[in-house]
Amino acid sequence: MHQPPTRMDRELFLTSARITDWLREEDEGRLNVLWKLADDLRRQRVGDDVHLRGLVEISNHCLRRCAYCGINADNSVLPRYRMNAGEILECARRAKSLGFGTVVLQSGEDYGLTALLVSEVVRSIKGETGLAVTLSLGERPERDLAAWRAAGADRYLLRFETSDERLYARIHPPLAAGEPGRVALLGRLKRLDYETGSGVMVGLPGQRYESLADDVALFRRLDLDMIGIGPFIPHPGTALGQNVRAQSPAQVPATELMALKMLALARLACPEANIPATTAIATLDGREGYERALRCGANVVMPELTPWQYRALYEIYPGKAASQEDGEAAAVSVVARIRAVGRTVGAGPGSRRRGDQAPAAEGVPR
Ligand code: 5AD
Repeated sequence: MHQPPTRMDRELFLTSARITDWLREEDEGRLNVLWKLADDLRRQRVGDDVHLRGLVEISNHCLRRCAYCGINADNSVLPRYRMNAGEILECARRAKSLGFGTVVLQSGEDYGLTALLVSEVVRSIKGETGLAVTLSLGERPERDLAAWRAAGADRYLLRFETSDERLYARIHPPLAAGEPGRVALLGRLKRLDYETGSGVMVGLPGQRYESLADDVALFRRLDLDMIGIGPFIPHPGTALGQNVRAQSPAQVPATELMALKMLALARLACPEANIPATTAIATLDGREGYERALRCGANVVMPELTPWQYRALYEIYPGKAASQEDGEAAAVSVVARIRAVGRTVGAGPGSRRRGDQAPAAEGVPR
């Protein structure tokens, strides 16, 4: 029987220098130590359940001009769509009938999704299905976030993308001077008592190893409930997809391996967080990506439930739609894949556990 990692083990792993060492590590044997530490801690603190969240991309309208994202406002060739309340509710019913505990409503930053419309949709979904509702609708004013929380929304996802402020300013132009910024918004979300999620992309042009170490420190400082990590995948319709630069040794590569290292380090930094095996990881390296992420600290999968006619239009990076199966088929295969890696499918909403609620995993003393 192996010993669970102690707090001290983790502290040793998590100094900034150690983190950058891990990110630069290429020896398979040594990396196996990292995977095992993250996997043991995942089992010990959040158990073997993998929670399924049905992802519905409700609008691809966006007023932002993010240099990485395929649905940014400058992409004038992309046909835009916005689902209506009935269509969104239908997807939530589907999530429920597939046995998922959560529906995630995601969109670009789209004020056509009015505060009122979203509140009504959230209320209907909660009333009819009882599912946990996660919103991921961008940087909205606090009054909108508060209204949605009051309507019953449980969680909010807003990645800070990178903690490197200069890099962030380059890839995410502000709409107005003095807007709060994502880290400030994450604080507001927490005060509104949302379960709060954030995350980063790995391998952005100009991203350095040290700044990924800062990202891990920020995960910890924010005490995030959910952490999403994926490789940066260049989109030809974006500024960052146009001039892919030659790689310097200081540049973090946008690989599945690098994303998995960040995922494992995020688990060590935030042992109780819900951490998905993201679509971006699966997109980059084919079907095995999910399984590998589940073995490196992940405990959530977010199968897409966006209706087919819209899916290809929510192309934040290329290849995303092709990597996903349809609702029924996806749900069946995701369950089989979770079981094939020796895990169980979570029942219920799969909310963040707090230390005192952690399951006593079999064979792992607490
Ligand atoms: N490659 C990888 N991830 C991306 N995202 C947006 N564009 C890309 C891209 N080109 C991620 C961002 C965003 C999330 C919804 O998708 O991290 O927060």
